[in-house]
Amino acid sequence: MSGTLYGLGVGPGDPELVTVKALRILRTMPVVAYPAPDQGPSFARSVVASRLSPAQIEIAIRVPMTRAPAPAQAVYDRAAEAIAGHLDAGRDVAVLCQGDPFFYGSFIQLFERLSPRYPVTVVPGISSLMACAAAAGAPLAMRDEVLTVLPATLSEAALEKRLKSAQAAAILKLGRHLPKVRRVLKRLRLVACAIYVERASLESQRILRLDEVDPATAPYFSMILVRRPEKITR
Ligand SMILES: C[S@@+](CC[C@H](N)C(=O)[O-])C[C@H]1O[C@@H](n2cnc3c(N)ncnc32)[C@H](O)[C@@H]1O
Repeated sequence: MSGTLYGLGVGPGDPELVTVKALRILRTMPVVAYPAPDQGPSFARSVVASRLSPAQIEIAIRVPMTRAPAPAQAVYDRAAEAIAGHLDAGRDVAVLCQGDPFFYGSFIQLFERLSPRYPVTVVPGISSLMACAAAAGAPLAMRDEVLTVLPATLSEAALEKRLKSAQAAAILKLGRHLPKVRRVLKRLRLVACAIYVERASLESQRILRLDEVDPATAPYFSMILVRRPEKITR
C-alpha cells in the first residue's frame, strides 16, 4: 500500500501558531519535505525545526528565485518524483507549508502532480492574511463587505482595476513590487486606508504606514491591507 502525502500548514512564522494537529502528524512522519531558497534555510522548516527528529528523512525543495517559470517547474517535477519514490515504498511524506497549503502555497505544485496517484491529506494552517490582520489590529472585512486578495505580481493596470472597486483588499507578494502598488494606491487616494505589515508574528515583525516604508527594504514576507472606511447604514 502506498504512503499518504500530507500538506502541513505551519502558519505565518511564530511556532506557537502551528496547529496541534500539524504537530501531531509531523511527529509520525518518516519523510519531511519543504520548499527552500536556492541557498540558505527553509522558512517553513525553521518554524518547526525544534520538532524534527534526526530519524526523519528530509527533502529540501530548492526553488530558484527567477521570474521564468520553467526552472521552478523542473524543480517541482523532480521533487514530485523523489516524494513519489517514498510514497511507493509505503512511507508517508509531509510537505511543510508556510501559512496555509492551499492559499498560494507552493504545495499546490506538488498536489497537482501527485494527487491523481496518491492519497492526500491537507492540514490547514493559519494564513499570513489572518496573521497580518491580527498584527495590524485591523479587521479584514465585516458584514457584507467583500475582501479582494491580490498578488502584487499583477500588472499595474490590473491592480488598479481591481482596487478601484475593492472595499477591502489584501495585497501579497510585495517585495520589489511595492513601488508599483504604492503608485496605484496613491492614484486611487487609498494610501491613508493602507497598512503595511512585514514578517507578521515573528520577532522582526514591523507594522508601518505605507508612506513610511522604504521600498528598497520591503521583503517578500510582507503584505498591504486596505479597507475603505465603512459606511454606517444602521
Ligand atoms: C506564496 S504566498 C504564500 C502564502 C501562505 N501560503 C499563507 O497562507 O500565508 C507568500 C506571501 O504571503 C505573504 N506572507 C507570508 N507570510 C507572511 C508574514 N509572516 N508576514 C507578512 N506577509 C506574509 C507575503 O505577501 C508573501 O509574499
